[in-house]
Amino acid sequence: MHNFDNINNLKKMQKKILITGGTGYIGSHTTIEFLEKGYQVVIIDNLSNSKIEALEGIIEITGKKVDFFQLDLTDKEHVAEFFEINKNIEAIIHFAAYKAVGQSVENPLMYYQNNLFSLINLLEAAQENNISNFVFSSSCTVYGEPDELPVKETSAIKKATSPYGNTKQISEDIINDLVNSNPNFKAIALRYFNPVGAHSSAKIGELPLGIPNNLVPFITQTAIGIREELKVFGDDYNTPDGTCIRDYIHVVDLAKAHVIAAERLLKSKNKTNFEVFNLGTGKGNSVLEVIKSFEKVTKTKLNFKITERRKGDVVAVFSHTDFANEELGWIAEKNLDDMMLSAWNWELNLRNRQ
Ligand code: WQD
Repeated sequence: MHNFDNINNLKKMQKKILITGGTGYIGSHTTIEFLEKGYQVVIIDNLSNSKIEALEGIIEITGKKVDFFQLDLTDKEHVAEFFEINKNIEAIIHFAAYKAVGQSVENPLMYYQNNLFSLINLLEAAQENNISNFVFSSSCTVYGEPDELPVKETSAIKKATSPYGNTKQISEDIINDLVNSNPNFKAIALRYFNPVGAHSSAKIGELPLGIPNNLVPFITQTAIGIREELKVFGDDYNTPDGTCIRDYIHVVDLAKAHVIAAERLLKSKNKTNFEVFNLGTGKGNSVLEVIKSFEKVTKTKLNFKITERRKGDVVAVFSHTDFANEELGWIAEKNLDDMMLSAWNWELNLRNRQ
């Protein structure tokens, strides 16, 4: 390592990043990317949808220490205390939120209360502590059933199809209004498509508590024998093979984009004070194509059957990636086979540890 790298890293060592939801699926992978780029990281998580073991995985993978505070962001007082103790935070990456579409339909108030009060408390604390760089975890779900494909950042934002999706839309509006009221505050919203896969070490990955809502963890749990069979929710859609199409993106590609977005703000390279980027591969794959990829890379036969459609599913959505590619200089590098193999290796490692 050259001397200027040392100095560079030393300088970054002074740059402290707060990652809320940092023991969660995308949060833990993002924490690793920041640590490996030489940043200090402090995590806030209430462990409502993640396990403290994720922290061990992060430390094992990076060999670096991470400060961790178990804290509920809806608790305003505790949030204020946290910022009393943790000074010199240069940027906030905000993941902490409930994210199950179906659960949000059954329990909307829990979603509005948790996702919006957490955000507002965090933004207020950021103002009080002069933290002016904010990266927000948003979702392609804000587009609903898009009129045009691939979907662009400028595509119409449709009425949300779930309270979860609505909390993402409202959150973006809250951040945008704050930016308009405070010229010193700048933010980037990253609209994820479908994050899947796991870190190559297989020491961290998606850890759905209970029965998985999402496709890929259900596939891996079926393949390892925890679930009897995968239900494919409908094959009578207007798509080539009749099953829904999504833009699956490797969680490590997604994590890397968060470092790039934070550095864009830290170096004031942002063009406006509230920017939105789609994070996808630009490629759509159907459910059956995902299954086929999984069977190919794992050399297993998946037990699945076609059942009726799932309410609320959009037929097809995949991202237009030019803006993120050109403006952020970021591109998703891993393909569907990489995603499936890494998801499987994580599942195998997880079960061998239990
Ligand atoms: C993908 C496809 C299902 C399970 C949601 C949120 C999004 C993000 C990711 C948080 C669909 C099919 C699924 C199963 C199936 N969440 N499927 N059998 O709904 O595209 O996106 O999760 O950020 O915001 O909206 O993801 O993985 O649930 O479904 O056939 O057991 O797989 O019908 O076509 P989705 P998903």
